[in-house]
Amino acid sequence: MVNRVMILGSINVDSIYQVTRFPQPGETIAVKQKSYAPGGKGANQAVAAARSGAKVSFVGAVGADNDGQEMVKTLAENNVDTSRIAVDPDNGTGSAVITVDENGQNDIMVYGGANQAMSVAQLSNLEQELAGTDFIVAQLETPQEVTLAAFKLARQQNVITILNPAPATELLPELLEYTDIIIPNETESSLLTGISVNDEPSMLQNAKFFKAHGIKNTIITLGEQGVFYVTADGHHGLVPAFKVNPVDTTAAGDTFIGALSSQLSPNLGNFESAITYAQRASSLAVQGMGAMPSIPLAEEVEKALG
Ligand code: RIB
Repeated sequence: MVNRVMILGSINVDSIYQVTRFPQPGETIAVKQKSYAPGGKGANQAVAAARSGAKVSFVGAVGADNDGQEMVKTLAENNVDTSRIAVDPDNGTGSAVITVDENGQNDIMVYGGANQAMSVAQLSNLEQELAGTDFIVAQLETPQEVTLAAFKLARQQNVITILNPAPATELLPELLEYTDIIIPNETESSLLTGISVNDEPSMLQNAKFFKAHGIKNTIITLGEQGVFYVTADGHHGLVPAFKVNPVDTTAAGDTFIGALSSQLSPNLGNFESAITYAQRASSLAVQGMGAMPSIPLAEEVEKALG
């Protein structure tokens, strides 16, 4: 069965600056190489899901500019249904400035533009499309009010809602109630719960916090340490990461989430195997430069899984 995934999220054009090390405040340093790549957490997750075989639709916005046209074209070329991407006449297409150091670590600054100007009006008749959808996935680069409205419609249609609370910020309390699966990294999880993530008991405490606020399933991504999950029935485990030498960790989390949404059974009965697949996809993505260009196809992930 092919999963049907709707992504509600951001679309950015990324400017990537490769440096030896990050500058100190007030310091000027030389850039070794500069490049551009399609990105945005929403767009990256959509492409990751589509390249892993899901049927993907996208709800988002771009500006009435060349970047917007190119981004919609790129998503369509990756088999993402772009019919729900609005063209905003008043705000430019989102963009990001990404600095990548020699260890593959990054710093990201994002200009929201059309992403942040999205409104609930864009969701008219969305319930019809949701009716044939297994998962809806959102992040925090688009307004939370829009995500909340979409998640409410999704609940009515029994669509499973997945929230990636990135970049971390204070959440609308109601958004937690309408989230079925939350996927933060360890920093985002700690910021949301106030409980630092450092060992299994602390991760279980984080999941307990989310459960008390209405979220039954928690998946915390831990970078090189792997992924910790707790399911609705309390089953939990740590799935170790694949060891690789990263070139650029941009979109590692996005690749994980998109790939996961393509593999997770809609009855949520295969957390561990879906997480293993998604971690393998993410481990391949960090071995290439740029967000979207490095996201692997299903056959590449399967070959790497052996
Ligand atoms: O998660 C990586 C993404 O964050 C980049 O592509 C950038 O656009 C920002 O949204």
